[in-house]
Amino acid sequence: MSALLEAQNLSAGYHGHPFVRDVHLQVNAGEVVALIGPNGAGKTTTLLALAGDIAPLGGAVLLTGKTRTDPLHARAKDGLAFVTEERSVFMRLTTAENLRVGGTDLDEAVTTFPELKALMNRPAGLLSGGEQQMVTLARALSRKPKVLLIDELSLGLAPLVVKRLLQAVRDAASTHGIGVLLVEQKVESALSVSDRVYVMRDGEIVLQGPSDEMAGRIRELEESYLASRSQA
Ligand SMILES: Nc1ncnc2c1ncn2[C@@H]1O[C@H](COP(=O)(O)OP(=O)(O)OP(=O)(O)O)[C@@H](O)[C@H]1O
Ligand SMILES: [Mg+2]
Repeated sequence: MSALLEAQNLSAGYHGHPFVRDVHLQVNAGEVVALIGPNGAGKTTTLLALAGDIAPLGGAVLLTGKTRTDPLHARAKDGLAFVTEERSVFMRLTTAENLRVGGTDLDEAVTTFPELKALMNRPAGLLSGGEQQMVTLARALSRKPKVLLIDELSLGLAPLVVKRLLQAVRDAASTHGIGVLLVEQKVESALSVSDRVYVMRDGEIVLQGPSDEMAGRIRELEESYLASRSQA
């Protein structure tokens, strides 16, 4: 069985310069795969290339076994969803309007995040950061993607909210067989919710393995691989 999403020897970057080099990775159905690494390691660049937002400078991206060179909107039709670093709610629209604009069933969103029920008529600009991310995630999940790419869902959020959001991601993978590639700054959270992890540094995958195994090596991980260069 081929992977849902695969990078083969992928290189990507900006202005013709490949910052990310020779990346091999796979995401299978029902798996949460974490991609971690220090600031500037190339995690977002990798996701952009996988999503079709930037063209690879080498290698290939395969979605359900087929090489794709088309842009994100075309890949989205075949089940790829991308939650980017930028908060993607419309601040002046209410929670309900934000969900409807995304074609999301309100009851379904409330099933995933019961917190949203009391917030339906509130402008999204007045929601907390965590609540905004619940709207974003509910919208992405309602599209019933096969593959979900997530960039820094938890940026700037309190630990309990992060746990809540990541658990929803885990449930979606386990229950609906979605394959998730999760870029996450909070390493312990990433390891606790994922099946496998890739560690990226200076544009290359430098370590990979099962998350439970990596969780036992978290100190080594942080000291050897995750310290940003200025701290190293
Ligand atoms: N639009 C761009 N044009 C030129 N260089 C860029 C652009 N975006 C990112 N870069 C550079 O590419 C490298 C990788 O950046 P990238 O955003 O992929 O890292 P990251 O691992 O996502 O970091 P962070 O954890 O800070 O989000 C960095 O050196 C960055 O400065
Ligand atoms: Mg990034």
